[in-house]
Amino acid sequence: SEPLRIALAGLGTVGGGVIRLIETNAALIARRAGRPIAITAISARNRSKDRGVDLSRYAWEDDMVILGERPDVDVVVELVGGADGPALALARTTFEAGKALVTANKAMIAHHGLELATRAEAAKVAFKFEAAVAGGIPAIKGLREGAAANRIERVYGILNGTCNYILSTMEDTGRDFADVLAEAQAKGYAEADPTFDIDGIDAAHKLSILSSIAFGTAIDFRNVTATGIRRVLAADIAQADALGYYIRLIGMAETEVDEAGNRRLFQRIHPHLVHRDHPLAHVDGATNAVVAEGNFVGRLLFQGAGAGDGPTASAVVADLIDIARGDVGAPFSIPVSELDAAAPADTGHR
Ligand code: NDP
Ligand code: HSE
Repeated sequence: SEPLRIALAGLGTVGGGVIRLIETNAALIARRAGRPIAITAISARNRSKDRGVDLSRYAWEDDMVILGERPDVDVVVELVGGADGPALALARTTFEAGKALVTANKAMIAHHGLELATRAEAAKVAFKFEAAVAGGIPAIKGLREGAAANRIERVYGILNGTCNYILSTMEDTGRDFADVLAEAQAKGYAEADPTFDIDGIDAAHKLSILSSIAFGTAIDFRNVTATGIRRVLAADIAQADALGYYIRLIGMAETEVDEAGNRRLFQRIHPHLVHRDHPLAHVDGATNAVVAEGNFVGRLLFQGAGAGDGPTASAVVADLIDIARGDVGAPFSIPVSELDAAAPADTGHR
């Protein structure tokens, strides 16, 4: 059968992982997708960089935006990053050309997800971003499909692998913040600009996407209150430990109906004390966990690798398999026009 032809923009941690996964598991992927997934074209910043994989069989484009217009491409996979810039230009071109897009770029979705979903819906093509939230955990699919019939009361969890790696490693070893951050960067967990991780912005991007899917509201990144872990000291971790707690960076979103009947959305990212007996206390390393509470299903806990090449590539390729099988779907579960306008909380604090 005809292969699903994909173009890869971005050949770094995640892009490299996608190539290795598609090449290593080609036969298994073809069986599950009903047809092979074939990389036809690629792009990144530096053509001559050694990426540890043979790229000679793939067509190279210096200008990645052209990938969206190539006639030998059915799906563009954007793994560059950044809310705007070439990633956004590529996404727009891809939908204008009537092609599907898969991305891991939570910054772009938090800022432009509704515009892009509107374009994808108009073009009747798939727009998938499972890898954008919690790396290898199918958190979006879990919420969208597992809790499809439920009213979600609350969604929360550990959404940033870099911060969790830093906090749990400092806790276990007493090592210095900067030293452990450098290690997380070397392992490929951190964003290109790691201040996005340690200041809670990356977790805020992810929370705004999750809460849109959980509550059926328009993405409202602007109103996420975020405090990161920059000010957490080794002494804080030791003090918490002495009291029976661990410190974790937690994202939490919930809605409340106020006295006037308006639904208000609270979204916040903060370092929290988590009691040793709580399941989130034992989420260590670059692991993430997402908890959703539904009115019939009860509490769902999704846990697994939240960052890194293999887990993130797994989520990207799972989206490609869905597309190969003909799944177009609505990016946010329901059409963009049916999403409620988020009614933001005035302060985000209670
Ligand atoms: P990397 O920095 O490792 O790779 C980025 C790639 O994009 C590189 O190949 C780089 O080219 C290319 N690139 C960057 N800027 C430009 C530009 N201006 N023009 C052309 N090419 C460019 O990032 P990651 O792989 O870690 O992340 C990619 C995306 O996946 C981001 O959106 C990130 O948030 C997301 N993500 C990352 C996860 C992770 O664990 N790392 C997990 C989940 C999502 P070159 O190599 O030539 O420099
Ligand atoms: N920088 C992100 C993290 C990558 O550490 O969680 C995964 O989205």
